[in-house]
Amino acid sequence: MTLTLRAYAKINLYLDILEKRDDGYHDLVTVMQSVSLHDTVTLSRRQDDEIRLLESNVSSIPAEKNLVVRAARAYFAASGDPFGVDISLQKTIPMAAGVGGGSADAAAVLRGLNQLDHNRFKNADLAKIGAELGADIPFCIYGGTALCRGIGEVILPAQNNLDGAVVLAIAGESVSTPDAFGAWDRQMAASKKTENAPDGLLGALQVGDLAGVSACLYNAFEAVIEPIRPAVSALKKMMLNAGATAACMSGSGPSVFGLFADDNAAAQAAAALQANGIAAYPCHFIL
Ligand code: C5P
Repeated sequence: MTLTLRAYAKINLYLDILEKRDDGYHDLVTVMQSVSLHDTVTLSRRQDDEIRLLESNVSSIPAEKNLVVRAARAYFAASGDPFGVDISLQKTIPMAAGVGGGSADAAAVLRGLNQLDHNRFKNADLAKIGAELGADIPFCIYGGTALCRGIGEVILPAQNNLDGAVVLAIAGESVSTPDAFGAWDRQMAASKKTENAPDGLLGALQVGDLAGVSACLYNAFEAVIEPIRPAVSALKKMMLNAGATAACMSGSGPSVFGLFADDNAAAQAAAALQANGIAAYPCHFIL
């Protein structure tokens, strides 16, 4: 039996960092949104009990490969009833860019194994298994639009009536997530006092108000990443010049996304960015 799943990238429409916890992670308030840019994960049951990662289309994806195999092992550790599986991974989502590619792949493996396993687990159980492997994996199990707290694992699905058109683009060298949190600790932790709930953003999403959503995009990492990655600020400006209603960094960067009036406007902007040598992907919200 073979199963093919889409592993959707995510963007952070809002990302605030609250404080560093005793375990070294940071409490966040973030609104995550799945977008149509996706990897493809194929799972086939094997006759024996081996987990095999077949060749994928990208030669060097150690972190993603590792996370996919670890997800399968974690699934079988939780079920106590392992079976063999071939996993193949077709990557499209840019790696180490703040758009959750590795987390999406791992979540797709957990969802797919559960399907092959006659839906033994509920999504909440899969999210718990995934949380042990990465903070963004629980969101990727559910997808859509959600307000996430804790380290990202406390998930409240949000109503969204905005059929958002997006361009995702990559600015310069990748950023390591632990380094980005470290920079925030050094520069910003002392100035953080109150928790801001993203009520304006959630209200605008609920009524499908693009201007309202555009006015509320926020990412606390921009304050520490833009000074060391000037390409991020430059790309945000290019997005706006190409017709975006707003542009913001995603996750710990350096990817930048722009929101657009419709898919046609997004496709034109992506083409304009590509003409300037920038990796740009037109996509839209997955609701
Ligand atoms: O969980 P994940 O592997 O995505 O996180 C990578 C690193 O980012 C963690 O080891 C931690 O240093 C940092 N992190 C954090 N707070 C979060 C998520 C990640 O400090 N909420």
